Amino acid sequence: MKRYIVAITGASGSIYGCRMLQVLKEAGCFLYVTVSKPGRQVLKEEMGWVLEGRAEVVEERLREYLGYSSGDPALRYFDPEDLGAVIASGSAQNDGMIVIPCTMSTVSAIAHGTAGNLIERAADVMLKEGRPLVVVPRETPLNQVHLENMLKLARMGVHVVPAMPAFYHHPQTINDLVDFIVGRVLDLLGVEHHLYSRWGE
Ligand SMILES: Cc1cc2nc3c(=O)[nH]c(=O)nc-3n(C[C@H](O)[C@H](O)[C@H](O)COP(=O)(O)O)c2cc1C
Repeated sequence: MKRYIVAITGASGSIYGCRMLQVLKEAGCFLYVTVSKPGRQVLKEEMGWVLEGRAEVVEERLREYLGYSSGDPALRYFDPEDLGAVIASGSAQNDGMIVIPCTMSTVSAIAHGTAGNLIERAADVMLKEGRPLVVVPRETPLNQVHLENMLKLARMGVHVVPAMPAFYHHPQTINDLVDFIVGRVLDLLGVEHHLYSRWGE
């Protein structure tokens, strides 16, 4: 069973993070999830997901939202301030990490190795261990600092997948647009899916 770390930060586009969790669950992947405090604020605002309280409580709420049974170990949630969580260590086994959506603040922290919270530390671990790291930045317009930080990430081997859906697959709904981005991320991780029609197919 593949294991992925999914981090949701406080950028608009929390729907991308929710859909990523759903699709990885359906693909039978084991999930380590963490959500920044601003990420929880945006999830509430945009998706109506209320993730408040202790990590154990948030973990159960996530299981409910995603249709897991109570206590299912296939989804683990860690508080973003918990730097003692398993995903803070390179010894934890996993197949990669996705930060979706990713704020410019977290892009900057990863680019500069700040490792000040669990999301930044887990991403730092991916880099030092040479494991796949995908970030899905969501901001517009982009200033010089944003662009320089994303270039820094790309040069370090991070997959930078801006939340910029295409239109050649004739999307009809918001879900079609979301699935295109989620599908492009899964393509990079080698996770099979049928989320969008590929060009020429
Ligand atoms: C409703 C809302 C939407 C936001 N959208 C974005 C966004 O699209 N991109 C971004 O970089 N920051 C956005 N922010 C600002 C970040 O949440 C803020 O910079 C925060 O400190 C990021 O922290 P984090 O990276 O730990 O989640 C938004 C904030 C709010 C409240």
